[in-house]
Amino acid sequence: MAFIILENIRKHYEIGDFLVLALDGIDLSIGKNEFVNIQGASGAGKTTLLNIMGSLDKPTSGKVLIDGINIATLTEESLSPWRAVNLGFVFQSFNLISTLTAEENVAIPALLWQENQDDVAKRVTELLDMVQMHERGDHLPMQLSAGEKQRIAIARALMNDPPLLIADEPTANLDAGTATMIIQIFKEIKESGDKTIIIASHDERMAQLATRNLFMNAGKLEEMGEDG
Ligand SMILES: Nc1ncnc2c1ncn2[C@@H]1O[C@H](COP(=O)(O)OP(=O)(O)OP(=O)(O)O)[C@@H](O)[C@H]1O
Ligand SMILES: [Mg+2]
Repeated sequence: MAFIILENIRKHYEIGDFLVLALDGIDLSIGKNEFVNIQGASGAGKTTLLNIMGSLDKPTSGKVLIDGINIATLTEESLSPWRAVNLGFVFQSFNLISTLTAEENVAIPALLWQENQDDVAKRVTELLDMVQMHERGDHLPMQLSAGEKQRIAIARALMNDPPLLIADEPTANLDAGTATMIIQIFKEIKESGDKTIIIASHDERMAQLATRNLFMNAGKLEEMGEDG
């Protein structure tokens, strides 16, 4: 069975009398360890779709099955432990906690269930090495550049070694050199071969890294062919 199955997902937002149809009947099936990149114009619904696949938002109607579980039916209480084990999410705006250091931010996902502090510290060190931020572990987010914050956010998403990694425009608003570094990190994650990766990105290199490319247009999803 596919790892992720979306069935007729619709999402609309009501702002007074104004109705925005963000997702207009999405059907999608993603296999384990696929690397999916999603492109599409601003407002097409990419973030809405990623948030729903990551259990951060609920669809107006439709089913979201991840590893056989319909996450749309889980309560907020049972979602937290589910997320901690299953999901790493990289936000476009980083969402680091401003009062915690870089290494404390990376350790957050482990706080829920990892008892052994030595194991946590070891994993944090390993991840900071991977994103080349080992010298900045005790710095606060405000002392880091956008690209450095993004690398910390990626390390945090990987903390619990989740089977599913979702990233929303991880190279947007970064300079070319930093974007290249982020692409390289995703290449390494892909090569580790044990994650299902779903990214919204306009970066051609991300599209090339992906094993499957999708295109969103006004709340609908199209598969892109080999010739793009
Ligand atoms: N909280 C919200 N309330 C009302 N409308 C919303 C909300 N979030 C998103 N929308 C609307 O839903 C549609 C899809 O937005 P979404 O953020 O998913 O697009 P996107 O493809 O991620 O765009 P971008 O490339 O600019 O990030 C847009 O028309 C947007 O205005
Ligand atoms: Mg978006």
